[in-house]
Amino acid sequence: MRKLVVGNWKMHGGLAVNGALLGALRAAGHAPCPMAVCVPFPYLAQARAALEDSTVAWGAQDVSEHASGAYTGEVSVAMLADFACRYVIVGHSERRALFGDSDERVAAKVKAALAGGLKPILCVGETLDEREQGVTEAVVERQLAAVCRLAGADALAACVIAYEPVWAIGTGRTATPEQAQAVHAFLRGRIAQWCGADRAVATTILYGGSVKPQNAADLFGQADIDGGLIGGASLVAEDFLAIVAAAV
Ligand code: 13P
Repeated sequence: MRKLVVGNWKMHGGLAVNGALLGALRAAGHAPCPMAVCVPFPYLAQARAALEDSTVAWGAQDVSEHASGAYTGEVSVAMLADFACRYVIVGHSERRALFGDSDERVAAKVKAALAGGLKPILCVGETLDEREQGVTEAVVERQLAAVCRLAGADALAACVIAYEPVWAIGTGRTATPEQAQAVHAFLRGRIAQWCGADRAVATTILYGGSVKPQNAADLFGQADIDGGLIGGASLVAEDFLAIVAAAV
């Protein structure tokens, strides 16, 4: 099991503000735990230039499942590899809800990312409705199983998993450490069943959804929570670094 904290900038930033943020992350020196930032596509070159030879990795927030071709507006795995991305977020709930990313397409993206040498950060999570209906486990199992079925157990085992309850994203309403731990333990159990116990133990499972410096240590203190996927708080260097420090 490995620790990791990843910032998901979403559609925020600009050259000047990014420069200050990336500079502050670089200046933090040796990170207490591995960290990365997933930036908007146009800023990958800036992130690379600012973070190269530092302890901070970088990546993208989505990728096409296609290798190349007439897909206006899409960005391929090879293009991300050209900018030395280590990670790519796949299946974020905003992509699933707003841009039609189905379980099948997410699985195809995972497959493409791995084939191109990138580490997918596979997001799963239930909506508030689904939680209230008591189908949280069924939903995250379906999302995970689609990757196993369509990309294979080896592909699933090669992903970083991020559990992000949709109702906790950007709402200030965090899952309690116990709620999050229960889903994380369930996910690890399914990975053990499908991919083997050793690989389940080695899988990094991040929590995302209103993680802040104030609640990070409690969340990361849970047995199956290996770090976080951080939205809003990753835009403020001091907050992001405090969250990274809480993951040790
Ligand atoms: P917030 O941390 O802003 O709630 O966003 C979480 C998220 O969606 C990270 O991918």
